[in-house]
This record gives sequence, structure tokens and C-alpha cells, in this order.
Amino acid sequence: MRKIIIAGNWKMNKTTVEAIELANGLKRDLYDIDAIGIIVCPPFTAIDEVAEVVYQTNIGLGAQNMHWEDAGAFTGEVSAPMLKELGCGYVILGHSERRQYFHETNETVNKKLKSALKHGLTPIVCVGESLEEREAGRTFDVIRDHVTNSLKGLDKEEIKKVIIAYEPVWAIGTGKTATPDQAQEVHRFIRDLLEKAYTREIADEITIQYGGSVKPGNIKELISQKDIDGALVGGASLDVKSFAEIVKGAQ
Ligand code: G3P
Repeated sequence: MRKIIIAGNWKMNKTTVEAIELANGLKRDLYDIDAIGIIVCPPFTAIDEVAEVVYQTNIGLGAQNMHWEDAGAFTGEVSAPMLKELGCGYVILGHSERRQYFHETNETVNKKLKSALKHGLTPIVCVGESLEEREAGRTFDVIRDHVTNSLKGLDKEEIKKVIIAYEPVWAIGTGKTATPDQAQEVHRFIRDLLEKAYTREIADEITIQYGGSVKPGNIKELISQKDIDGALVGGASLDVKSFAEIVKGAQ
């Protein structure tokens, strides 16, 4: 049975002191939640300190990106072994902001994904269409391209270790959340792609999160959809109260 997982993508927010405060607040307010998975993804600069706060708690720790090489002349980059050493268990890959601003491609996501799995990190692979692509009726073409090519070459055991996050770009940071029906339609499509590539049983095991203006006021409706298995939360993850309400609302 797949697990409901709520992850907070803090993006380029929170100084280290603020990150420690936020993590402590979540530890305090969510200590008794065990039915669903909780992950926080701080900026690189705060991972080490947040790792100390969440150590041996029910809160998992993730990074927002990584390089596919283990080491080398890649100025400014961070590798999977380095993230693992800091206590990360997860890593967000292929976020639309990285695809848009930093030339991330399905090919680089695929290389990062394989490195993450090699080093025991659970990847959260983001897929999603832009408003222009949706309005042009190309949503399913884009999702098929992202899923097929970002996940290329994974065997039946490897794919089970992957979390997929559907994040319609037009819903990210806009307050314009996809309707539950819109989200469910794409989640269903993703699960059907996984069934065709693997088996129905494997497809049913994989957690598919929704991301894009998730708030305490809409989490219940979203999570009630058959193929929505959690959320990847941006803005609302930066505040203890709102992120805790989203987690509790997803139970
Ligand atoms: O990765 C999650 C993020 O892109 C969603 O952002 O602010 O719309 O919840 P937000």
C-alpha cells in the first residue's frame, strides 16, 4: 500500500537560524503523526542544522537538488554522497523552477535520479506542464515526456523507490490550485503510464504527490482523490501552523 507523504520545499528561503526555528516548531506540533510521511527540504546551507533537529524523529530530510557526479570539478554543485553524509534521505529533482531557470532537462534529471538511487536517496521527481502547454491541449504530451524520459532505464525494483510529484507550473506560487478533478486526471494518467512501463501492482505502490498552491483549505479535497498520495508544498511549508495543518489535514 502506497504511503501518503507531505513534503515541504522551502526553496531559497530561511536563514539557518530561521530554519532551525521552523524545524523545531514542526517537531513540536507533529511529533505524534505516524500515519503519513513528513519531509522537509531546506536550502543547502541549513541542511546540517535541520538534520540535528529532526534526527530520530518522524520528519524526513531532503535536499532540493544535486549533481549526478559523486565528486569533481563542478563549481557550486553538491553531490549525493555529500547529501547522504549530512543526513538527507530524499532529494527533489527536476523541479520546474530548475527546468525553467537552470536548464534542467529530462536527461539531467535521469542522471541525477540514478545517482540518488545508487547512494540510497529517495528521489522526488517533479513533472508538470506550463499554462501555455495546458491551453494548447498538450498537458498529457508533456507529462508523458517528463515521466518517460526522466525515469528512463529504471528497473522494477528501482522505480518502487521513486516518488513522483505532479506540479502544474501554472499553479506554483500563484494561489491558483488545480481543481481536484484536474489533478486527479493527470495523476491517473501518470499511474497508467507506470502500469504500461511496469505492472499495475507496481504502479499502485508508487506515491504521486500533487504540488501547486497547496494550502490547509484545499488539502482535504485534493487528498480525497484516488490517485493523489500527498503534496509537495512550497509557500505554505514556510510557516509552522500552515504546514502542520496541511499534514494533519492529509491524515
Ligand atoms: O515544490 C513545491 C512548489 O513548487 C509549490 O509551491 O508555493 O505553490 O506551494 P507553492
